[in-house]
Amino acid sequence: MNDHYRELRDLTDARLQNLFAEDEPFARLNEAMRYSLLAGGKRLRPVLAMAFCEVCGAPAETALDSACALELLHTYSLIHDDLPCMDDDELRRGKPTSHVVFGEGTAVLAGDCLQAEAFALLLSSRMPAERIVAMALALSQAAGLYGICGAQALDLAAEGKPLTGEQLVRIHHGKTAALLTAAAEIGVIAGGGGPDELDAARTYAANVGLAFQIRDDVLDVISTDEELGKPVGSDAANGKTTFVTLYGQERCAAMIRELTEHACESLSGVFPCPDFPIWLARYMAERDK
Ligand code: IPE
Ligand code: IPE
Ligand code: MG
Ligand code: MG
Ligand code: MG
Repeated sequence: MNDHYRELRDLTDARLQNLFAEDEPFARLNEAMRYSLLAGGKRLRPVLAMAFCEVCGAPAETALDSACALELLHTYSLIHDDLPCMDDDELRRGKPTSHVVFGEGTAVLAGDCLQAEAFALLLSSRMPAERIVAMALALSQAAGLYGICGAQALDLAAEGKPLTGEQLVRIHHGKTAALLTAAAEIGVIAGGGGPDELDAARTYAANVGLAFQIRDDVLDVISTDEELGKPVGSDAANGKTTFVTLYGQERCAAMIRELTEHACESLSGVFPCPDFPIWLARYMAERDK
Protein backbone atom coordinates (compact mmCIF):
# COMPACT_ATOMS: atom_id res chain seq x y z
CA MET A 1 0.00 0.00 0.00
CA ASN A 2 2.83 2.30 0.90
CA ASP A 3 4.22 1.62 -2.59
CA HIS A 4 0.99 2.72 -4.20
CA TYR A 5 0.95 5.93 -2.17
CA ARG A 6 4.52 6.61 -3.33
CA GLU A 7 3.57 5.87 -6.94
CA LEU A 8 0.66 8.37 -6.90
CA ARG A 9 2.75 10.95 -5.06
CA ASP A 10 5.55 10.63 -7.63
CA LEU A 11 3.04 10.97 -10.46
CA THR A 12 1.84 14.22 -8.84
CA ASP A 13 5.36 15.53 -8.33
CA ALA A 14 6.30 14.83 -11.95
CA ARG A 15 3.26 16.75 -13.24
CA LEU A 16 3.86 19.68 -10.87
CA GLN A 17 7.49 19.91 -12.01
CA ASN A 18 6.26 20.95 -15.46
CA LEU A 19 4.20 23.90 -14.23
CA PHE A 20 5.34 27.56 -14.20
CA ALA A 21 8.70 26.57 -15.64
CA GLU A 22 9.16 29.48 -18.12
CA ASP A 23 11.52 32.23 -17.02
CA GLU A 24 10.20 35.38 -18.66
CA PRO A 25 8.42 37.71 -18.14
CA PHE A 26 7.27 36.52 -14.72
CA ALA A 27 10.47 35.00 -13.42
CA ARG A 28 10.05 36.06 -9.81
CA LEU A 29 6.38 35.11 -9.49
CA ASN A 30 7.02 31.76 -11.18
CA GLU A 31 9.97 31.16 -8.91
CA ALA A 32 7.85 31.93 -5.85
CA MET A 33 5.08 29.55 -6.95
CA ARG A 34 7.54 26.76 -7.72
CA TYR A 35 9.38 27.37 -4.46
CA SER A 36 6.31 26.57 -2.34
CA LEU A 37 4.81 24.00 -4.67
CA LEU A 38 7.93 21.89 -5.06
CA ALA A 39 9.12 22.10 -1.46
CA GLY A 40 7.89 18.55 -0.85
CA GLY A 41 4.39 18.35 0.64
CA LYS A 42 2.79 15.00 1.35
CA ARG A 43 0.48 15.39 -1.69
CA LEU A 44 -2.40 13.85 0.24
CA ARG A 45 -5.14 15.69 -1.63
CA PRO A 46 -3.98 14.62 -5.13
CA VAL A 47 -3.36 11.08 -3.89
CA LEU A 48 -6.86 10.98 -2.39
CA ALA A 49 -8.41 12.21 -5.63
CA MET A 50 -6.58 9.61 -7.72
CA ALA A 51 -7.39 6.89 -5.17
CA PHE A 52 -11.12 7.58 -5.58
CA CYS A 53 -10.77 7.73 -9.35
CA GLU A 54 -9.22 4.26 -9.22
CA VAL A 55 -11.83 2.73 -6.93
CA CYS A 56 -14.42 3.91 -9.47
CA GLY A 57 -12.62 1.79 -12.06
CA ALA A 58 -10.66 4.42 -14.04
CA PRO A 59 -6.86 4.84 -14.21
CA ALA A 60 -5.29 7.34 -11.81
CA GLU A 61 -4.01 9.44 -14.73
CA THR A 62 -7.60 10.36 -15.66
CA ALA A 63 -7.72 12.55 -12.55
CA LEU A 64 -4.09 13.73 -12.63
CA ASP A 65 -4.63 17.35 -13.71
CA SER A 66 -7.57 17.95 -11.41
CA ALA A 67 -5.60 16.24 -8.62
CA CYS A 68 -2.72 18.66 -9.22
CA ALA A 69 -5.22 21.55 -9.21
CA LEU A 70 -6.08 20.54 -5.62
CA GLU A 71 -2.40 20.75 -4.69
CA LEU A 72 -2.07 24.22 -6.27
CA LEU A 73 -5.05 25.45 -4.30
CA HIS A 74 -3.79 23.82 -1.10
CA THR A 75 -0.36 25.41 -1.55
CA TYR A 76 -1.94 28.83 -2.00
CA SER A 77 -3.83 28.33 1.27
CA LEU A 78 -0.57 27.47 3.06
CA ILE A 79 1.28 30.53 1.71
CA HIS A 80 -1.51 32.84 2.87
CA ASP A 81 -1.98 30.97 6.18
CA ASP A 82 1.67 31.65 7.03
CA LEU A 83 1.60 35.41 6.29
CA PRO A 84 2.37 37.86 9.13
CA CYS A 85 -1.28 38.99 9.08
CA MET A 86 -2.44 35.38 9.54
CA ASP A 87 -0.45 32.78 11.56
CA ASP A 88 2.85 34.63 11.11
CA ASP A 89 5.00 31.52 10.63
CA GLU A 90 8.47 31.40 9.15
CA LEU A 91 8.88 27.72 8.30
CA ARG A 92 6.84 25.59 5.88
CA ARG A 93 7.64 22.25 4.30
CA GLY A 94 11.05 22.46 5.94
CA LYS A 95 11.97 25.78 4.29
CA PRO A 96 11.57 29.49 5.11
CA THR A 97 8.04 30.62 4.23
CA SER A 98 7.28 32.40 0.98
CA HIS A 99 7.02 35.89 2.50
CA VAL A 100 10.37 35.44 4.28
CA VAL A 101 12.12 34.60 1.00
CA PHE A 102 10.22 36.72 -1.53
CA GLY A 103 8.59 39.45 0.57
CA GLU A 104 4.92 39.81 1.45
CA GLY A 105 3.79 41.30 -1.85
CA THR A 106 5.14 38.44 -3.95
CA ALA A 107 3.90 35.86 -1.41
CA VAL A 108 0.36 37.26 -1.61
CA LEU A 109 0.54 37.22 -5.42
CA ALA A 110 2.02 33.71 -5.54
CA GLY A 111 -0.97 32.54 -3.49
CA ASP A 112 -3.47 34.45 -5.64
CA CYS A 113 -1.90 33.13 -8.81
CA LEU A 114 -1.81 29.51 -7.58
CA GLN A 115 -5.52 29.72 -6.79
CA ALA A 116 -6.38 31.03 -10.27
CA GLU A 117 -4.03 28.59 -12.00
CA ALA A 118 -5.62 25.72 -10.03
CA PHE A 119 -8.90 26.41 -11.82
CA ALA A 120 -7.16 26.86 -15.18
CA LEU A 121 -5.51 23.45 -14.79
CA LEU A 122 -8.70 21.73 -13.69
CA LEU A 123 -10.74 23.31 -16.48
CA SER A 124 -8.17 22.13 -19.04
CA SER A 125 -8.66 18.47 -18.03
CA ARG A 126 -9.47 16.21 -20.94
CA MET A 127 -12.85 14.76 -20.04
CA PRO A 128 -16.55 15.38 -20.74
CA ALA A 129 -17.60 18.99 -20.05
CA GLU A 130 -20.24 18.08 -17.44
CA ARG A 131 -17.61 16.29 -15.35
CA ILE A 132 -15.32 19.32 -15.55
CA VAL A 133 -18.12 21.64 -14.42
CA ALA A 134 -18.91 19.36 -11.45
CA MET A 135 -15.24 19.20 -10.46
CA ALA A 136 -14.82 22.99 -10.71
CA LEU A 137 -17.90 23.51 -8.55
CA ALA A 138 -16.54 21.11 -5.91
CA LEU A 139 -13.19 22.92 -5.86
CA SER A 140 -14.70 26.42 -5.72
CA GLN A 141 -17.03 25.46 -2.86
CA ALA A 142 -14.12 24.03 -0.87
CA ALA A 143 -12.11 27.20 -1.43
CA GLY A 144 -14.80 29.80 -0.74
CA LEU A 145 -17.12 31.07 1.93
CA TYR A 146 -18.24 27.65 3.17
CA GLY A 147 -14.75 26.22 2.86
CA ILE A 148 -11.24 27.52 3.41
CA CYS A 149 -11.79 31.31 3.26
CA GLY A 150 -14.86 31.36 5.47
CA ALA A 151 -13.27 29.09 8.06
CA GLN A 152 -9.94 30.93 8.01
CA ALA A 153 -11.91 34.13 8.75
CA LEU A 154 -13.61 32.45 11.72
CA ASP A 155 -10.26 31.04 12.86
CA LEU A 156 -8.71 34.49 12.72
CA ALA A 157 -11.60 36.16 14.54
CA ALA A 158 -11.39 33.56 17.32
CA GLU A 159 -7.73 34.24 18.22
CA GLY A 160 -7.43 34.78 21.95
CA LYS A 161 -11.09 33.92 22.51
CA PRO A 162 -12.62 30.71 23.81
CA LEU A 163 -14.57 28.50 21.38
CA THR A 164 -17.05 25.71 21.99
CA GLY A 165 -16.38 22.25 20.56
CA GLU A 166 -19.17 22.83 18.05
CA GLN A 167 -17.63 26.09 16.81
CA LEU A 168 -14.23 24.45 16.49
CA VAL A 169 -15.62 21.51 14.52
CA ARG A 170 -17.18 24.02 12.13
CA ILE A 171 -13.85 25.78 11.62
CA HIS A 172 -11.93 22.54 11.16
CA HIS A 173 -14.49 21.27 8.67
CA GLY A 174 -14.14 24.40 6.56
CA LYS A 175 -10.43 24.98 6.71
CA THR A 176 -9.32 21.37 6.25
CA ALA A 177 -12.06 18.79 5.67
CA ALA A 178 -13.67 20.81 2.86
CA LEU A 179 -10.69 20.51 0.50
CA LEU A 180 -10.18 16.84 1.34
CA THR A 181 -13.86 16.33 0.58
CA ALA A 182 -13.43 18.12 -2.75
CA ALA A 183 -10.47 15.81 -3.46
CA ALA A 184 -12.56 12.69 -2.90
CA GLU A 185 -15.46 14.14 -4.93
CA ILE A 186 -13.18 15.13 -7.80
CA GLY A 187 -11.77 11.60 -7.85
CA VAL A 188 -15.24 10.05 -8.04
CA ILE A 189 -16.38 12.49 -10.74
CA ALA A 190 -13.23 11.91 -12.82
CA GLY A 191 -13.64 8.16 -12.40
CA GLY A 192 -17.26 8.20 -13.55
CA GLY A 193 -18.90 7.32 -10.21
CA GLY A 194 -22.55 8.10 -9.50
CA PRO A 195 -24.51 9.59 -6.58
CA ASP A 196 -23.96 6.62 -4.20
CA GLU A 197 -20.21 6.73 -4.75
CA LEU A 198 -20.22 10.52 -4.25
CA ASP A 199 -22.16 10.22 -1.00
CA ALA A 200 -19.84 7.57 0.38
CA ALA A 201 -16.74 9.54 -0.67
CA ARG A 202 -18.09 12.68 1.02
CA THR A 203 -18.81 10.89 4.29
CA TYR A 204 -15.38 9.28 4.20
CA ALA A 205 -13.57 12.56 3.52
CA ALA A 206 -15.52 14.66 6.03
CA ASN A 207 -14.49 12.20 8.75
CA VAL A 208 -10.91 11.79 7.54
CA GLY A 209 -10.64 15.58 7.22
CA LEU A 210 -11.74 16.30 10.76
CA ALA A 211 -9.41 13.58 12.08
CA PHE A 212 -6.61 15.09 9.98
CA GLN A 213 -6.99 18.56 11.51
CA ILE A 214 -7.27 17.10 15.06
CA ARG A 215 -3.99 15.27 14.38
CA ASP A 216 -2.54 18.57 13.08
CA ASP A 217 -3.50 20.24 16.38
CA VAL A 218 -1.88 17.39 18.35
CA LEU A 219 1.32 17.51 16.29
CA ASP A 220 1.53 21.28 16.89
CA VAL A 221 1.98 20.35 20.57
CA ILE A 222 3.99 17.09 20.56
CA SER A 223 6.24 17.26 17.50
CA THR A 224 9.35 19.23 16.58
CA ASP A 225 10.04 21.85 13.88
CA GLU A 226 12.47 19.43 12.18
CA GLU A 227 9.99 16.54 12.03
CA LEU A 228 7.00 18.66 10.98
CA GLY A 229 8.79 21.08 8.67
CA LYS A 230 6.71 23.90 10.22
CA PRO A 231 6.93 25.62 13.59
CA VAL A 232 5.40 23.72 16.50
CA GLY A 233 3.66 25.84 19.11
CA SER A 234 2.16 28.09 16.43
CA ASP A 235 -1.39 27.60 17.74
CA ALA A 236 -0.45 28.46 21.34
CA ALA A 237 1.57 31.49 20.19
CA ASN A 238 -1.51 32.78 18.36
CA GLY A 239 -3.91 32.08 21.23
CA LYS A 240 -5.92 29.50 19.25
CA THR A 241 -8.47 27.20 20.75
CA THR A 242 -7.63 23.75 19.35
CA PHE A 243 -8.85 20.20 19.91
CA VAL A 244 -5.93 19.74 22.29
CA THR A 245 -6.76 22.78 24.43
CA LEU A 246 -10.44 21.73 24.54
CA TYR A 247 -10.16 17.98 25.08
CA GLY A 248 -6.55 17.00 25.83
CA GLN A 249 -4.36 14.61 23.87
CA GLU A 250 -5.92 11.34 25.02
CA ARG A 251 -9.44 12.25 23.95
CA CYS A 252 -8.04 13.61 20.69
CA ALA A 253 -6.44 10.23 19.99
CA ALA A 254 -9.76 8.47 20.67
CA MET A 255 -11.67 10.91 18.42
CA ILE A 256 -9.16 10.40 15.60
CA ARG A 257 -9.58 6.61 15.87
CA GLU A 258 -13.38 6.82 15.87
CA LEU A 259 -13.58 9.26 12.96
CA THR A 260 -11.15 7.14 10.95
CA GLU A 261 -13.09 3.93 11.50
CA HIS A 262 -16.34 5.68 10.63
CA ALA A 263 -14.69 6.97 7.44
CA CYS A 264 -13.58 3.46 6.45
CA GLU A 265 -16.99 1.90 7.19
CA SER A 266 -18.71 4.37 4.87
CA LEU A 267 -16.93 2.83 1.85
CA SER A 268 -17.93 -0.79 2.29
CA GLY A 269 -20.78 -2.00 0.11
CA VAL A 270 -20.33 0.97 -2.24
CA PHE A 271 -16.93 0.41 -3.84
CA PRO A 272 -15.85 -3.10 -4.90
CA CYS A 273 -12.30 -2.75 -3.58
CA PRO A 274 -11.73 0.25 -1.28
CA ASP A 275 -8.51 -1.15 0.28
CA PHE A 276 -6.29 1.77 -0.67
CA PRO A 277 -8.55 4.62 0.56
CA ILE A 278 -8.96 2.62 3.79
CA TRP A 279 -5.18 2.33 4.12
CA LEU A 280 -4.84 6.05 3.36
CA ALA A 281 -7.33 7.06 6.09
CA ARG A 282 -5.34 5.08 8.68
CA TYR A 283 -2.05 6.41 7.35
CA MET A 284 -3.30 9.98 7.69
CA ALA A 285 -4.60 9.34 11.20
CA GLU A 286 -1.28 7.91 12.38
CA ARG A 287 1.00 10.37 10.63
CA ASP A 288 3.89 12.00 12.47
CA LYS A 289 4.30 14.87 10.01
C1 IPE B 1 -1.29 21.34 6.30
O1 IPE B 1 -1.64 20.35 5.37
C2 IPE B 1 -2.43 22.26 6.54
C3 IPE B 1 -3.59 21.61 7.14
C4 IPE B 1 -4.74 21.57 6.54
C5 IPE B 1 -3.49 21.01 8.45
P1 IPE B 1 -0.68 19.11 5.09
O2 IPE B 1 -0.29 18.48 6.41
O3 IPE B 1 -1.32 18.20 4.10
O4 IPE B 1 0.61 19.83 4.50
P2 IPE B 1 1.62 19.39 3.34
O5 IPE B 1 0.88 19.57 2.05
O6 IPE B 1 2.05 17.97 3.54
O7 IPE B 1 2.75 20.37 3.46
C1 IPE C 1 -4.93 26.08 8.38
O1 IPE C 1 -4.71 25.35 9.54
C2 IPE C 1 -5.01 25.19 7.20
C3 IPE C 1 -5.10 26.00 5.98
C4 IPE C 1 -4.05 26.43 5.34
C5 IPE C 1 -6.40 26.33 5.43
P1 IPE C 1 -3.36 25.55 10.34
O2 IPE C 1 -3.01 26.98 10.47
O3 IPE C 1 -3.45 24.72 11.57
O4 IPE C 1 -2.33 24.84 9.34
P2 IPE C 1 -0.77 24.73 9.64
O5 IPE C 1 -0.64 24.03 10.98
O6 IPE C 1 -0.20 26.11 9.64
O7 IPE C 1 -0.27 23.85 8.52
MG1 MG D 1 -3.95 28.83 10.44
MG1 MG E 1 -0.99 27.85 10.26
MG1 MG F 1 -1.90 23.62 12.44
